[in-house]
Amino acid sequence: MKNLPTIAVRTGLERDQQHGAVIPPLHLSSNYTFESLGQPRTFDYTRSGNPTRAILAETLAALEGGTQATVTASGMAAITAALQLLKPGDRLVMPHDCYGGTWRLVDALQKRNAFVVDWVDLSNPITRREALKKPAKVVWVETPSNPLLRITDIAQVRQEAPDAILVVDNTFLSPALQKPLELGADVIVHSTTKYINGHSDVVGGAVISKDKTLGEEIAWWANCLGLTGAPFDAWLTLRGVRTLHARMTQHLQNTEAVVALLDNHPAVAKVYYPGLTTHPGHAIARQQQTGFGAMVSFELHDADDIKPLVESLQVFSLAESLGGVESLVAHPATMTHAAMSAEARAVAGISDGLIRLSVGIEDPRDLLADLKQALVLCRSCRKGGAA
Ligand SMILES: Cc1ncc(COP(=O)(O)O)c(C=O)c1O
Repeated sequence: MKNLPTIAVRTGLERDQQHGAVIPPLHLSSNYTFESLGQPRTFDYTRSGNPTRAILAETLAALEGGTQATVTASGMAAITAALQLLKPGDRLVMPHDCYGGTWRLVDALQKRNAFVVDWVDLSNPITRREALKKPAKVVWVETPSNPLLRITDIAQVRQEAPDAILVVDNTFLSPALQKPLELGADVIVHSTTKYINGHSDVVGGAVISKDKTLGEEIAWWANCLGLTGAPFDAWLTLRGVRTLHARMTQHLQNTEAVVALLDNHPAVAKVYYPGLTTHPGHAIARQQQTGFGAMVSFELHDADDIKPLVESLQVFSLAESLGGVESLVAHPATMTHAAMSAEARAVAGISDGLIRLSVGIEDPRDLLADLKQALVLCRSCRKGGAA
């Protein structure tokens, strides 16, 4: 199997020896008998290994082009597992506008001297080059970043930090739209809660590595710390990933229509989307991604319009998270990025006036109609008389 949609649909099918089930069965058992004393089978205890979780890991490793994957209980568990690669005194270079939960974890760990951190705008070639002149054990990239959709040039980071372990959070695009290992990354982390599962009914994560030794080290820590995911979650996520590519096609089509509406609307001051030619990361996104993604952020002319706008949307649900089939609207400053200090948000450019959309796969006509009826309530529209 060579093509990604086929890998996503077919990995693990038709393996059931007992009944010939096409879809891999769900193995909930927490423990497995030994064949005899001192002779364990492939699996002995579900924290360490589980047949259902193993098929999801195999699928994700194949989709990302890695040698090994560890499936975890959440995206944060995946990030926790990857951070175990660092020891006290090691230097970690972090993007300054990453997901708020990642920021909180790294900030808390560095305060306990787990490692030394430099927060850097890695999307800016000048600050990036300067930061990567000094050796680092790990360089962490989140591209596109959450929530400002900044683009970091993965291949360039690889070139400028040849000796560092390069970790990429690929949550915002999934392997359907970006393949970081092919661009030089060593490790990929995912919140599978998002596009990989895609149905907003599982919290999960994964760490995928290019190199077997790194993968084994991460898997060892995941078992040791108890970070591995539950079998039922793995089964649901496996069911979700089967349709990843079909969903992504619709996500992209809908997002293009939503961005066109926002970009030309009198109530909207600024749109953040890498697909726009005016976006500073557009050329790199075009080169390193196979689609611009389905996350869009924007600012209104009048921040007082945020509350009425998000509350009058009916097809977009006011909720955190992203990447599900359903469209969502969020206010990063008080929701997804509330875990970041106000100071760190200001440095990262995440204003209180920013709104973030996760564009789902509903009929685009309904999404556009919903946005139009909500935007027309904005003060700047009422003043200008826009329809
Ligand atoms: C880019 C990114 N990475 C990691 C996470 C954490 O994932 P989880 O919520 O599954 O722990 C999130 C959550 O929103 C995210 O957006």
